[in-house]
Amino acid sequence: MIPFLDLKAQYAKIGDELEAAAVGAMRSGEFILGSRVAAFEKNFAAYCGADNAIGVNSGTSALHLALLALGVGEGDEVITVPMTFVATAAAIRYTNARPVFVDIEPDTWNMCPVELAKAITPRTKAIIPVHLHGRLANMPAIMDIAKQHGIPVVEDAAQAHGAEVGSRRAGTFGDIGCFSLYPGKNLGACGEGGAVVTNNAELAEKMRQMRDWGQTSRYYHDLPGYNYRMDGIQGAVLDVKLKYIADWTAKRQHVARRYDALLAGSGIVLPKPASAGEHVYHVYAVRFANRDDLQARLTEKGIMTNIHYPRPVHLQKVHSDLGYVMGDFPNSESYAREALSLPIYPELTEEQITVVVDGVREIVSTAAAPARKSHSIAVD
Ligand SMILES: Cc1ncc(COP(=O)(O)O)c(C=O)c1O
Repeated sequence: MIPFLDLKAQYAKIGDELEAAAVGAMRSGEFILGSRVAAFEKNFAAYCGADNAIGVNSGTSALHLALLALGVGEGDEVITVPMTFVATAAAIRYTNARPVFVDIEPDTWNMCPVELAKAITPRTKAIIPVHLHGRLANMPAIMDIAKQHGIPVVEDAAQAHGAEVGSRRAGTFGDIGCFSLYPGKNLGACGEGGAVVTNNAELAEKMRQMRDWGQTSRYYHDLPGYNYRMDGIQGAVLDVKLKYIADWTAKRQHVARRYDALLAGSGIVLPKPASAGEHVYHVYAVRFANRDDLQARLTEKGIMTNIHYPRPVHLQKVHSDLGYVMGDFPNSESYAREALSLPIYPELTEEQITVVVDGVREIVSTAAAPARKSHSIAVD
């Protein structure tokens, strides 16, 4: 069996170091924040190329804090994409602002700058591009539009640790970058975790206070407060893992290049080629009209896959009050029907890659025309 993700393989390699770090944190009594979290923040900021990093307890909290720091609230609109994990929109709703969706590009599967420009209104208070699967959205174009209108940008870099163009890394193009450090992410804690990065000292200070009950000093609360603090154990293990991320990213990119080469001409749509560093392949997704059948037959062969994401956010029942309907965002909707994520992680072996590729090729070469069922998005 080839698992979709194998966190035990990573643990087998560096478990001793992680355990020593976790035990050190426990022995120190620094269970929440403390010196290990501070060290991780310093090192993560340096890794991203940002002046400040603030450790929090999830990527969702990171997004919420970023919007709060920018003063987003009731009556405001925040533009994002419907092809993302639901947390992006949830964070907007936590502030009582309204998510306004714009479609993705048909080839990069990231925010379309042309659609973004059309969606801006006097109420737009922030823009959240999502670096889906670890590929940078078109940040130069998005930042040009945002600057023309004086609108701040919060990058949802939950899947894109270290993705870079030129000398700039994910999270540092906009005003604030938000990362998830959930265990399955390219950099993952041994539990929940997240971080925000920013070069703006004032925003950094606000977010630092708001993650810890809005305290300016102990029991003096000047800002609205949240319990979004990072645990000491997570700071300790993340600081260990940070030493490996460059190597892990290179290995993910290698697996992606092998898939690119070995699946070329197989009849499935592959990810658009990316410039070096632009894509860190948190997910390697392909597209195929008869996706559901392909997934079922791969499962029969013991090749585990996943779908990111089967129902775009604008069609999620929880957001039905926003009034969006099927057909509003055709690129996101067709992507939701056709995308299939193949196994990718640093420890994936050449033999496993071959098994996946042979499986996909065999199924695709004998695939029937898509059944109607596989062409609908379940919305009720
Ligand atoms: C694009 C995106 N945004 C936000 C999040 C939320 O992160 P977390 O699960 O750490 O709260 C995730 C995590 O899955 C994500 O993939």
